Amino acid sequence: MTMLDLRTEAATASAFVSAAARFGVVEKPDLAFTPAIARETEHLYEKVKDFIPAFEWAAYAPYVHAINRLKKERNAVILAHNYQTPDIFHCVADIVGDSLQLARDATKVDAEIIVQCGVHFMAETSKLLNPEKTVLIPDAKAGCSLSESITGADVRLLKERYPGVPVVTYVNTSADVKAETDICCTSSNVLAVVESLESDTVLCIPDEYLAMNVARQTNKKILTWKGHCEVHERFTAAELLAYKEANPGIEIIGHPECHPDVIEVCDFSGSTSGMINYVKDKRPPRVLLVTECSMASNIQAEVEGVDFVKPCNLCPHMKRITLPKILDSLLYMTEEVLVDPAIADRARLAVERMVNLKQ
Ligand code: 13P
Ligand code: SF4
Repeated sequence: MTMLDLRTEAATASAFVSAAARFGVVEKPDLAFTPAIARETEHLYEKVKDFIPAFEWAAYAPYVHAINRLKKERNAVILAHNYQTPDIFHCVADIVGDSLQLARDATKVDAEIIVQCGVHFMAETSKLLNPEKTVLIPDAKAGCSLSESITGADVRLLKERYPGVPVVTYVNTSADVKAETDICCTSSNVLAVVESLESDTVLCIPDEYLAMNVARQTNKKILTWKGHCEVHERFTAAELLAYKEANPGIEIIGHPECHPDVIEVCDFSGSTSGMINYVKDKRPPRVLLVTECSMASNIQAEVEGVDFVKPCNLCPHMKRITLPKILDSLLYMTEEVLVDPAIADRARLAVERMVNLKQ
């Protein structure tokens, strides 16, 4: 390493000031369940009372109260994915949604700080779209089996093998992968993204099942990768047919990260928000959501007269986010999400092309 390199590195290191140093840290508040806290959180308990027994609310309410207070003091906003637990989804989140909605809404927030309650690729997407804002994730280890299935180097090899074939990458990937990509997609817009490309052949990576499901809806030739969601790959068509037999008239709605054989026996397939809207609009008397476990509880709190049959497949990554970790995030300004400047511009372009696509 030359002297110049050393000086450049030192300058970069000194230019980086941690979020804790920029915003200051706050001392942990007393987390006792006082009558005042019980009163102030009563309206929130109403939304989650079917999932949290009254005696347990004493452990949740002080966190909910402290987070909501600190959020205002810090000028922070909480973005939460539909798979977050009901206490987070209904009691502290400002904006909830599927991956596309969260990416779109991330561009509209006025707050200085975004706390992303979801997995790491979601926080990275928010940071890409808001380079000037501080983006925090309560647990940076909240990963994703799809994101971990592929690297930027893998995509470079694919492009060498299929020169000229456009690359559509699911948002469930690292910024390193997005940087090698022509355009991103989510489960709610994958067909529109694929159809927007002129080429007759498209690389749709890394979710093999999402790609197989979209291949059934387009005339284009879809090439893919062997990535899978560890939650959705567990569902089987045989299991769903058994639910149908045991529950005559039940509607089964599935996420397109499931195998096509599973989607085949579903009455509807869509992104997490697509599934929520289906239940809210159609109000099926009995329904089974073929997706992560918390989704059913989160909608159940908002619709009456729908009976949810719940096979419970949890996403261990989404479940890393908890109220105590969200509070720590706001107190100590951790864990800050940064994107390597060497790849940020290219990764941002792929996400922005998706966000700006007219559907
Ligand atoms: P959507 O919310 O975009 O449907 O994605 C589901 C998912 O698995 C996110 O990790
Ligand atoms: Fe990844 Fe599946 Fe978890 Fe979503 S549910 S974060 S796709 S592992």
